[in-house]
Amino acid sequence: MDFKAYLREVKAWLEEIKFYKQSKRYNHEELDDVLKRMEFFLNGIKEDEVTENEIISLQTLVKDTNERLKEGVEIEGNMRQMYIPIGQHILPNLPYPYNALEPHISTEIMKLHHDKHHQSYVDGLNKAEKKMQTARATNDFSLLKHWEREASFHGGGHYLHTLFWESMSPKGGGEPKGALMRQINKDFESYNAFKQHFSGAAKQVEGSGWAILVWSPRPRRLEILQSENHNKLTQWDVIPLLPLDVWEHAYYLQYKNNRGAYVDNWWNVVNWPAVEARYEKAQKLQWKPV
Ligand SMILES: [Fe+2]
Repeated sequence: MDFKAYLREVKAWLEEIKFYKQSKRYNHEELDDVLKRMEFFLNGIKEDEVTENEIISLQTLVKDTNERLKEGVEIEGNMRQMYIPIGQHILPNLPYPYNALEPHISTEIMKLHHDKHHQSYVDGLNKAEKKMQTARATNDFSLLKHWEREASFHGGGHYLHTLFWESMSPKGGGEPKGALMRQINKDFESYNAFKQHFSGAAKQVEGSGWAILVWSPRPRRLEILQSENHNKLTQWDVIPLLPLDVWEHAYYLQYKNNRGAYVDNWWNVVNWPAVEARYEKAQKLQWKPV
């Protein structure tokens, strides 16, 4: 074996792993440990005087590293099933071929709509999330209004389109059954009344937007809502945990036009146990990350 060439190969491989780890930002303690040992070992080897025993030790370290790397890939895969890190949303595949909804929705529309439009919302959301992460890291919130708007528009777009694709099927149509049909009959009087209401809401959206059938967990009723654009500064798919009212009626009598002082003082009255309880309840609702 050409010991020198092997050494160079292992060194280059180590740099590649370090770069990969950094770019992926994932932590795996055992992998870090074996990488540190290998780096220490490599630094101690004199290229021109490398011994067979040293090469055998190095091969063991390479084997260990490979095993830890495999574990790392599994950890990363499992993590992805549990949550989506900041700025790492991806475009979900369509659950059917592009032409599956013909003749009602053309192949050309589906391709453009999914590959171009939906992709741009995913990209826009990732960018906004990363920019806000940078804002927190640098304590520079001067462009927050812009990035919050972007996160809302693109996030709303991404989440709604994800639901939209799943809500259609080449075997679709007909009427709902079971519990959903019973709830529709209860809340809208009849399926036909629901359908007329939903169609009317969709046709009357001012400009671009959506009609959405929603479940409202507090009154425990179905409701039909419109959304202009994708959002109006919120993101569909989220559950409110801690709201702060900044309408003037919430502070003007006491703080006049000093909204900042009201916001700063408001932190003194936040009921965290109530927020914690809502957070715990919200955790029970789980949808597949994409
Ligand atoms: Fe769309």
